Amino acid sequence: MATTTPLTCQLLTNELLPAVLDLDQICLGGLWTEAGYRREIDSPNSDLLVLLAHEYVIGLGCVWAILDEAHITTLAIHPDYHRQRLGQLLLIQLLQQAHQRSLTHATLEVRASNHRALQLYQKFGFRTAGQRKRYYQDGENALILWRSQLQTPEFQHCLTHLQRECAVSFKQNHYQWLPDVTITQ
Ligand SMILES: CC(C)(COP(=O)(O)OP(=O)(O)OC[C@H]1O[C@@H](n2cnc3c(N)ncnc32)[C@H](O)[C@@H]1OP(=O)(O)O)[C@@H](O)C(=O)NCCC(=O)NCCS
Repeated sequence: MATTTPLTCQLLTNELLPAVLDLDQICLGGLWTEAGYRREIDSPNSDLLVLLAHEYVIGLGCVWAILDEAHITTLAIHPDYHRQRLGQLLLIQLLQQAHQRSLTHATLEVRASNHRALQLYQKFGFRTAGQRKRYYQDGENALILWRSQLQTPEFQHCLTHLQRECAVSFKQNHYQWLPDVTITQ
């Protein structure tokens, strides 16, 4: 019988910083420095979540609370773990944090060419609201995505449906998801 891998999600801590910096290099090419991640740990308006398989950090995602908006600033899963609905799980966790902070809208910027991320966000009801020309250093445009009505029953139903999809995938891939109800600061 295949052994199951426990999956957990928690807020970033100083102990996990080296692993998160490694993951950032692998997935995002060094988006944030160590000082940048430390600022996220210290900021009362930021939830930086890490996803762990056993004790290994395999995903990271961050949401900032600005007025009534949830700004999703980063989301990444280690390439060895793609296409198992782990990115979907992490996005659910980020949006649940936003919901618990009573935020009403979510927004983010994504490369216009990042089709897999765009498909992921579309599943959550994000829609393109505009674009920022030459937003990235290499000159690529960013699409601005927007998801409103985070506090409605419709949105909770959407998350429940997406959670069920995760559960199916985790069963197939022998993950045991251990939700942490104490995640909110
Ligand atoms: C985007 C990313 C987080 C997706 O993570 P993942 O764990 O592989 O994605 P999931 O398995 O949870 O996929 C969920 C949905 O996303 C979309 N998706 C993910 N990977 C896809 C791919 N390679 N092709 C098409 N759609 C894809 C699909 O809609 C999928 O739903 P489905 O399983 O019903 O088809 C991951 O590719 C990544 O880390 N990319 C590099 C960093 C990045 O681009 N982050 C986004 C910055 S805004």
